[in-house]
Amino acid sequence: MYLLLNQNATPTELGAINPNTTVLQWLRNNNLVGTKEGCAAGDCGACTAVVGELVKRNNKQVIRYKSINTCIALANSMIGKHLVTVEGLAEGENLHPVQQAMVTENGSQCGFCTPGFVMSLFAMYHNEDKLNITKINEGLSGNLCRCTGYKPIIAAAFSAINEKANNAADYYVKNQTKIKQTLARLNEDQNVCLSYKNNGSAIHYDAPKSLKDLEKVLDNNPKAIILAGGTDLNLEITQSTKEFDHIINISQVQELNAINDEKSKLEIGSAVTYQDASSSLIKYWPELESFLHRFASLPIKNWATIGGNIANASPIGDMPPVLIALEAKLKLRKKSGVRSVRLEDFFIGYKKTALEEGEFIESITIPKPATKERLITHKISKRYEDDISAVCMAMNISLHDNQPKSVRIAFGGMSDTPQRAEQLEQVLLDYWDKEELAQKAYSALKEEFSPFSDVRASAEYRLQVSANLVRKSALEIKGEAVANLSETNNESFYMEA
Ligand SMILES: Cc1cc2nc3c(=O)[nH]c(=O)nc-3n(C[C@H](O)[C@H](O)[C@H](O)COP(=O)(O)OP(=O)(O)OC[C@H]3O[C@@H](n4cnc5c(N)ncnc54)[C@H](O)[C@@H]3O)c2cc1C
Ligand code: FES
Ligand code: FES
Repeated sequence: MYLLLNQNATPTELGAINPNTTVLQWLRNNNLVGTKEGCAAGDCGACTAVVGELVKRNNKQVIRYKSINTCIALANSMIGKHLVTVEGLAEGENLHPVQQAMVTENGSQCGFCTPGFVMSLFAMYHNEDKLNITKINEGLSGNLCRCTGYKPIIAAAFSAINEKANNAADYYVKNQTKIKQTLARLNEDQNVCLSYKNNGSAIHYDAPKSLKDLEKVLDNNPKAIILAGGTDLNLEITQSTKEFDHIINISQVQELNAINDEKSKLEIGSAVTYQDASSSLIKYWPELESFLHRFASLPIKNWATIGGNIANASPIGDMPPVLIALEAKLKLRKKSGVRSVRLEDFFIGYKKTALEEGEFIESITIPKPATKERLITHKISKRYEDDISAVCMAMNISLHDNQPKSVRIAFGGMSDTPQRAEQLEQVLLDYWDKEELAQKAYSALKEEFSPFSDVRASAEYRLQVSANLVRKSALEIKGEAVANLSETNNESFYMEA
């Protein structure tokens, strides 16, 4: 099995590797040690590399380059892709423009994080023609510099990318036709099906390309683990030293990567990444733009899927409360049939879902908003970017003459599962314009939820901040509060019980 690596004209064979091997381990075992390991958890960006893949845009095949965290991506998921590491940037003695800009602007200090920053700049170089500070912040959202050296790195980003038009094309632009042809050839092969012998037992890896083939392979191997982006699952390999004996990668299944924009609903394939889903979501719910900005970092968003965010059944996943508030339904599929389940019924306990053996999430369907509907979302976390929620709240409210006609509210971080708050919904309808709204909301929350205490927040904090978010949302709707202030634990205001 082959991938295209850096500036090599001929594809590189991945070799016989344990399917649990990460891209980072594979690179370093193959003497490409420019890519560093910091946290091995997707948090620091020292391991950032760039992946090019063939995608269709306006009916044409183009290569899209995106940054990823190699520490939590599996090496086998690079099959048929173009992997670019920091070793693949310079052409002979000539540094790539983003490397040169880092030198000129003194952007490299400790050096350990520098390859990761350079690769994020390289991804921006290929995706942007003009930068502003918002785009730079997003492009660098997955890279940590512990010596507070962001200023010269940001200056390097500005100068390299905004001067792009004055530079000669880099290797990847000059050779794009050849690269496209090679990638197309590498992707002609249908399903990937590998076995690796490990001390007498076999470890299997499958990457089917169609829904039918996925159904079949899961039916034959119902105990195999499903892998989508792996931004959650692969932490079990890197943090808990777990080894899976059969991995089925669903990210190459064509049907699971589709977004169907229909008259009354949006249907998002479960393997669609956050980055790819964002424009469709923001088109119908513009309020989600700032919310999605708060989801992880760009390299995680480039790889993490919406289906994975739901199937992992984390009580602090960000998308489930939003999708519950929007009345989303899941299409669940296995060889013997398809069924539809309301998302609010999908979570049946801590990290437990209604999925049966051999069953997978095919898609998520969201009804499009009615004219007078308004979605309000709030995420409370310690860091603004790249941090998991302490509490996440989504309220979908339908208004008539400024009065709520119907409302759906859901929370993450408030119980064992993402959960709808039905008592609270009734309180909002009954007390919308009344003095007691805040007090009643707090009491309803206390009755309906038993939040947990952990490193992110205490149970009492979670209750109080949730009540505050309800009050804030109501004030936003009435035009009496500003939406989407920077929300951190530090600036939350408290309400008396
Ligand atoms: C640094 C970092 C920051 C993060 N920040 C956030 C954040 O801000 N907010 C947030 O909500 N999450 C965050 N996450 C968690 C994670 O990125 C998301 O939950 C992500 O959407 C998981 O998707 P994935 O495709 O990577 O799932 P995977 O890791 O591939 O899979 C997760 C689980 O779902 C199962 N699965 C996946 N797809 C399917 C399917 N179609 N059918 C059935 N089962 C399936 C897998 O078997 C596995 O058990 C973060 C993770 C990291 C490492
Ligand atoms: S090593 Fe820290 S994000 Fe990969
Ligand atoms: S330059 Fe590496 S931590 Fe700042």
